[in-house]
Amino acid sequence: EDADYNKLCEDHNHLIETIPKRNGWKEQHLYNYNGFWLNPHIIKNNLVVHTYFKSQSTDIFLASFMKSGTTWLKALMFSTLNRHLYSFSDHFLLHHGPHSTFPLLDFETHPITDFTQLPAPRLFATHFPRTLLPPLITSCKIVYLCREPKDVLISKWHFMCKLRPKDMPPLSLEEAFELFCAGISDYGPFWEHVLSYWRASLENPEKILFLKYEEVKKQPEVVVRKLAAFMGKPFTAEEVEKGVVEKIVELCSFGNLSNLEVNKNGVEKFGKVAAELGVDNRQFFRKGETGDWKIYLSEEMSQRIDGITHDKLKDSGLII
Ligand code: A3P
Repeated sequence: EDADYNKLCEDHNHLIETIPKRNGWKEQHLYNYNGFWLNPHIIKNNLVVHTYFKSQSTDIFLASFMKSGTTWLKALMFSTLNRHLYSFSDHFLLHHGPHSTFPLLDFETHPITDFTQLPAPRLFATHFPRTLLPPLITSCKIVYLCREPKDVLISKWHFMCKLRPKDMPPLSLEEAFELFCAGISDYGPFWEHVLSYWRASLENPEKILFLKYEEVKKQPEVVVRKLAAFMGKPFTAEEVEKGVVEKIVELCSFGNLSNLEVNKNGVEKFGKVAAELGVDNRQFFRKGETGDWKIYLSEEMSQRIDGITHDKLKDSGLII
């Protein structure tokens, strides 16, 4: 084990010295690792996951680009899959932030957490593009969530401004915009990320459920029913009759979750090392709307992103 890990550290050091490097959105640089921009810790964690994570064929993954609505989908998937375990009046989500529901694989460091005790199907989240996942994970069921890129940019800009160390000059929207358009964004380029899952979902629709934030906003009940069926736990007629679908939607709604004490004042710790990354839960709840970009982006900026989206997706059949 240790010899493996020493080798991994050597490989990582070598990578960091040789692959392209740019300024990121926070203090860490971003490095282009196999076509995607990641900070050096996440690259190392990716190597750890490849080396030590043992997936099970029954595992279900939630994959998304940062700020696409991961928090919301985590709550929806967890409460749908585990609806037999909790009552709505005393639900886990009333006392814990959505990120406590299941682990984000990307923050796994050495030695990797022992997940073997978790009952199947286990849920995991990841922001890695499909091409950076270990091959065994790509044969598991994956729910992919995508979102309008201009909304992702604005959401991410706000989020990163909050997380950026106070001794750094603020990140202007213009800088964030240029970085995003150039694809230099954690786990970016955005478009290649989305396409990595979109193409796979066309080949294997029963293995990849491709969702859009906008469709979840419009018809959350339809999406929750899709999720339940996809995860192998379709709603029974009796449950539908009792309004279980609506109750899940209400429990996980922006209005409900963002007003809970735990999400107003709680802190989410990512990774095993407590000091590693603590994020106030409230940073995951900003507005929860579609089209908020209109307040921030000029006509020229919005046209430029739309142009990139058009060019990158035009042959894919995907419209976002
Ligand atoms: P905004 O910044 O546009 O408000 P992620 O969870 O991937 O980090 O994405 C965060 C985005 O999802 C934020 O978008 C946040 O407000 C929104 N969000 C979080 N919880 C939500 C919910 N229950 N319903 C709708 N949107 C939600």
